[in-house]
Amino acid sequence: MDKIKIAIVGAGVWGQTHAEIFREHPMAETAAVCDLNRERAEKAAAEYGIPAVYTRVEDMLRECKCDAVSIVTPDHLHGDIAVLCANAGKHLLIEKPLATNREDVDRIMEAAEKNRVRVMVDLHNRWNPPFALAKESINAGELGRLRSGYFRLNDIKWVATDMLSWSASSSILWFLGSHSLDTLSWLFGSPLRRVYAVSSRGVLETQGIDTVDCYLSTLEFENGCIAQMENGWISPNANLNINDIKCTILGDKGLINIDASNHNLIQKYTDQAASVPDILVRNTVHGRVKGFAYESIRSFIDSLASGEDFIVSLKDAAAASLGILAIMESAEKGIPVDVKL
Ligand SMILES: NC(=O)c1ccc[n+]([C@@H]2O[C@H](COP(=O)([O-])OP(=O)(O)OC[C@H]3O[C@@H](n4cnc5c(N)ncnc54)[C@H](O)[C@@H]3O)[C@@H](O)[C@H]2O)c1
Repeated sequence: MDKIKIAIVGAGVWGQTHAEIFREHPMAETAAVCDLNRERAEKAAAEYGIPAVYTRVEDMLRECKCDAVSIVTPDHLHGDIAVLCANAGKHLLIEKPLATNREDVDRIMEAAEKNRVRVMVDLHNRWNPPFALAKESINAGELGRLRSGYFRLNDIKWVATDMLSWSASSSILWFLGSHSLDTLSWLFGSPLRRVYAVSSRGVLETQGIDTVDCYLSTLEFENGCIAQMENGWISPNANLNINDIKCTILGDKGLINIDASNHNLIQKYTDQAASVPDILVRNTVHGRVKGFAYESIRSFIDSLASGEDFIVSLKDAAAASLGILAIMESAEKGIPVDVKL
């Protein structure tokens, strides 16, 4: 079977994660990299042995013979690129979130259907081992009928202030809330029905970043499950993990608690610092990439090659974006909001 030729749009931090796993996957071949910043694209091309560099998606689609495109541009810049690529007949791996407004969600879904291209959104927490185990346990009926949940997914301030140049154009809800909402909906096996949310701002604003610090959301799902979800971008920078991720799922026969940030399997101390190195998200073992952030991207190629369904459907990814829009509306207006799927 021929390798799947894939092009990457966006050669920033996460575009390089895509390039790393495509370089290793026996069924993948990166055919091109495209970034508005030519220097960044050329650097990635040199590092990952990518033969073609573009600065405009239109030029890439005209000249590069690829089967699929990874879209790894900032959160609010997925829509136009996804529609262009779908109209060119390319299968798509889109970084989360699918899109940050309803119009883009609808446009992408229509273009995918019209052109019969397959789309997966990288909602990679479904590959996070404790969450995958929780799903197995739920499916086996060990927790009984699910009742309620709690999900905290926070980042240290540095992500908003230093790592992302575009955090003011996004939100902690798009950046991390998309993962936590998708995970809750997946674990509960139900779409979101109604939300009531509050938010707080001020810490990031005083650092010149005009975005919400923290959202607290009360969620009601179609099947009656309820949950609290916390997403903040202002954890102290000295937190030993970039993410603070905690989850509880309660059923009438059992409970699962997950603390996926403070794994403590390895603690490292030097004269300068204490750290808990990442062994779960994006690490390497004997030169090979490991971690659930790579597994989701690997799975996209696996499913394209085998023809199997993606583990995250386009409908689920659209539901995550529309759920977040409802949370934002609720926090702005101070009223409960029904999710319009
Ligand atoms: N799954 C995860 O855990 C994870 C982690 C980090 C980022 N992400 C996601 O990946 C995406 C990118 O994030 P990042 O941290 O790599 O951002 P980044 O700013 O490091 O990189 C984005 C790149 O996109 C380029 N770009 C913007 N518009 C473009 C266009 N029209 N054509 C070509 N290139 C364009 C920019 O020049 C930049 O190099 C975001 O959606 C983010 O949420 C996911």
